[in-house]
Amino acid sequence: MKVVKSKIIDNIKILNKIYRLTCEFAGDIRPGQFFMLKTLDNSFLLPRPISVHDSSENTVTFLYRTEGKGTSKISTLREDDEIQLFGPLGNGFALDNLSGKIAVVGGGIGIAPLLYLVKSLGKNADVFLGFKDAENAYLIDEFKKYADRTIVVTEDGSIGEKGFVTDYICYKEYSTVLTCGPEIMMNKIIKNSMENNVKCYISLERRMACGMGVCLGCTVETKSGNKRACKDGPVFSSDELV
Ligand SMILES: Cc1cc2nc3c(=O)[nH]c(=O)nc-3n(C[C@H](O)[C@H](O)[C@H](O)COP(=O)(O)OP(=O)(O)OC[C@H]3O[C@@H](n4cnc5c(N)ncnc54)[C@H](O)[C@@H]3O)c2cc1C
Ligand code: FES
Repeated sequence: MKVVKSKIIDNIKILNKIYRLTCEFAGDIRPGQFFMLKTLDNSFLLPRPISVHDSSENTVTFLYRTEGKGTSKISTLREDDEIQLFGPLGNGFALDNLSGKIAVVGGGIGIAPLLYLVKSLGKNADVFLGFKDAENAYLIDEFKKYADRTIVVTEDGSIGEKGFVTDYICYKEYSTVLTCGPEIMMNKIIKNSMENNVKCYISLERRMACGMGVCLGCTVETKSGNKRACKDGPVFSSDELV
């Protein structure tokens, strides 16, 4: 992990409030890890945690939704501007422990860390992407490039299947489910995975201040006591969680 001033290659608006930022970065990154991002003008104090969306030898890419001051400011940065990156942080998904067919499930902006994950799984994953409607769906073709099958579900059926993404996963086909998205979606996935004896790993979001395990602001309650989402996570086995 390191703190670097990184040059921005591009920062593209891909949909209302959704941006894709690519910066120069050299170093090993595991799927599911994240960086703390901060603009250099100090217009906001605490860096903001954003997952790695994609990575190549000399670049790292983030997919983010503007929520408040920090992400809105980051969205104003342009090619050749600099940004402060601190990372990669967190444990990421433990790919070495996986075998058999994998289901990768994302909802909304929760799909952000899943593209690099699916790429790393090498056509051994079926991907389930849940969005509100066609107008709020993005990057489906990117996932299709790397997944075995890509199943898109929207609440109104305006693109793909109709309903909730959790209704379309046939658990018996999979050894493991990996997921990131709204808590209500992940809770259903945990419950269904347990009922079907399928291993489940989830990427959790907590508000974070330091990102490196010092401030204890990102506590997650587990069966073996409190853990830190930034350092012990953000990926947890569903068995561990209370
Ligand atoms: C490990 C990790 C990875 C993340 N990866 C991504 C990503 O890839 N793409 C992405 O768009 N977002 C991601 N997030 C969420 C992102 O960090 C927050 O949206 C961002 O920090 C908000 O900052 P802001 O200054 O724009 O908004 P603020 O002004 O700080 O807050 C705006 C609103 O967002 C809420 N909020 C802020 N942070 C969080 C949080 N961590 N969890 C839930 N609600 C929050 C606040 O309560 C408030 O309602 C991730 C968070 C974590 C912890
Ligand atoms: S953000 Fe400080 S301990 Fe996790």
